[in-house]
Amino acid sequence: MAEVTLTIDNKPVKATEGMTVLEAARRAGIEIPSLCAHEKLKPYTACRLCMVEIVDARGRTNLDTACSYPVAANLVVKTRSENVDRIRKTVLELALSHAPDAPILQQYAREYGADKDRFEKVPSFCILCGLCVRYCAEVKKKDAVGFVERGTRREIAFIPEIAARECMSCRECFSLCPTEYLQAAFVLTQALITAPSPKD
Ligand code: SF4
Ligand code: FES
Repeated sequence: MAEVTLTIDNKPVKATEGMTVLEAARRAGIEIPSLCAHEKLKPYTACRLCMVEIVDARGRTNLDTACSYPVAANLVVKTRSENVDRIRKTVLELALSHAPDAPILQQYAREYGADKDRFEKVPSFCILCGLCVRYCAEVKKKDAVGFVERGTRREIAFIPEIAARECMSCRECFSLCPTEYLQAAFVLTQALITAPSPKD
């Protein structure tokens, strides 16, 4: 794979073709906030927190997600700007309406001046980042947890039969959840799995 040099926050950064801007920035020690990216998973672009300003080789400026944007020679990336910060603030305010007590959201909220009370509370506690679902499917190849329902009712759920077999000895997804909702969902599933059946 060819090496390319791009510029991130006025700093020349070497990267390998095929990497994303987020990966290149992290390798260079430049922080870009993210909630749904993971080095072992394909880009998912659900949270939009990693939005950055990118000037491409033709001189066009775009706002795009660093976790999915491929590096290229001579790209110029700005990880902070008025526009970027405004988008991140709104993204965080929406996430906080679902999970106001999540420490990672509170930490980012302080940095971007996000108001946790701007939007009406939707006590789902899950921000639909998909880390748990994708990790179980892409890395563990087990599909023990998945999305159910659609639209505003969309949520994650463990598949009890698979969870009973796979999750007790694994639990690798637990630490990925930015809100700790996953652990709560698992405790509920565990209760269902271990509950005596009515005919017992
Ligand atoms: S349970 Fe946690 S890891 Fe899974 S989608 Fe929701 S917020 Fe993301
Ligand atoms: S980390 Fe890029 S959209 Fe979530």
